[in-house]
Amino acid sequence: MFSSTRYDNIAETDGATAAQAPEAAGDVTRRSFLATGVAVGAGAALAPLGRATAAFASPPSGTLTNGDVALLRFRAAAEILETDLWQQYNELGGIQDSQVPGGSGSKFYTRALENIDENMPQYIHDNTHDELSHFSFLNAYLESRGAEPVNLDKYRQLPSSKAAGARQIGRLTNLMELTIDTSWWTRYRSSTKNPDLGDKFAQAVPDLFAGSFPAIPRSDDDLHPHKHIQAIANTAAFHFGTIEQGGTSNYPQLAQRVTDLEVLRVMLSFGGVETMHFQTWNDKAGNVPPIKDPTNGLEFPNLNDPPFGNEELKANLIMPEPTVFLNKSLPVASIVRPTKTQGAATGAVAFLTADGLFKGQSTEFFEVLKRLATEADAATRE
Ligand SMILES: [Fe+2]
Repeated sequence: MFSSTRYDNIAETDGATAAQAPEAAGDVTRRSFLATGVAVGAGAALAPLGRATAAFASPPSGTLTNGDVALLRFRAAAEILETDLWQQYNELGGIQDSQVPGGSGSKFYTRALENIDENMPQYIHDNTHDELSHFSFLNAYLESRGAEPVNLDKYRQLPSSKAAGARQIGRLTNLMELTIDTSWWTRYRSSTKNPDLGDKFAQAVPDLFAGSFPAIPRSDDDLHPHKHIQAIANTAAFHFGTIEQGGTSNYPQLAQRVTDLEVLRVMLSFGGVETMHFQTWNDKAGNVPPIKDPTNGLEFPNLNDPPFGNEELKANLIMPEPTVFLNKSLPVASIVRPTKTQGAATGAVAFLTADGLFKGQSTEFFEVLKRLATEADAATRE
């Protein structure tokens, strides 16, 4: 177990985030809420003696367990990292507006994304907007429950794309040297296997897992020839699914060790949205044009051709195929997979690191991330 104060050296309260923290409803200030640990407001009534009654919706009571704080803090860090990568995609290939500001778009990259689906810029924008809301809420929620928010600003030191349209600011994540695991494609189409039962899955795009490739143009030199920028857009399309299937699993994985019912509600409500994202990207990845990048040989197979042309693996099977769950003697069920909780946070960090997402980051960054994950994985339901 640990004290939330142990985080003090890695996460100072971000003034901007603190300012967004919701006041406890009614006339009770957030500060007094933190002091008492009792939420008084919309869902509770003040009895004549000034004590909160449980006459209405039951408010969270007491402070969070250290385990719940660790689980929320790990997700806050993950959402900050997700936001950072999605912002890079949005600056070059999404819709830059007041909801998701920054960047001015890369015409040829955006066009290549639109070859996959004409709505790609909107979907990229909306996914980015959602991640922004996730990390802002989680940090504000942590504060509202008397815990420290997460701030990774000091690690925003990786370079931006030099392509016109991208902001020139420090980044947390690297989208220019990715090694992408596309096995979620076959994992969600399998009716006989489950990663929680030790099963392994084939890659949909083997080349993406065998090399290192950009998912955004590194500079305007990457905008030509046409098949090269299309391969970069295709890489992004698969990376979107790879990221969001991770969130789809991670929330239910961690939720199993939550103690406080309201924290469980947060986990379930956020996890469902990650699943919506994943479902969208599962659909879009099936639309990537089958091409070979003439500059580096990266090949996107036709996903409806053998060996992908059988009933289980074809592109339009975007609903999860029912498969074995918990025990092979039980009937198959359509499920999120994996959902095993042991080591879920450290596993997520290892997965994203192997992806190349943090290539170039400092030793200290990895130590901080590892500590957040280790503490989340030490959390137990009380
Ligand atoms: Fe998210």
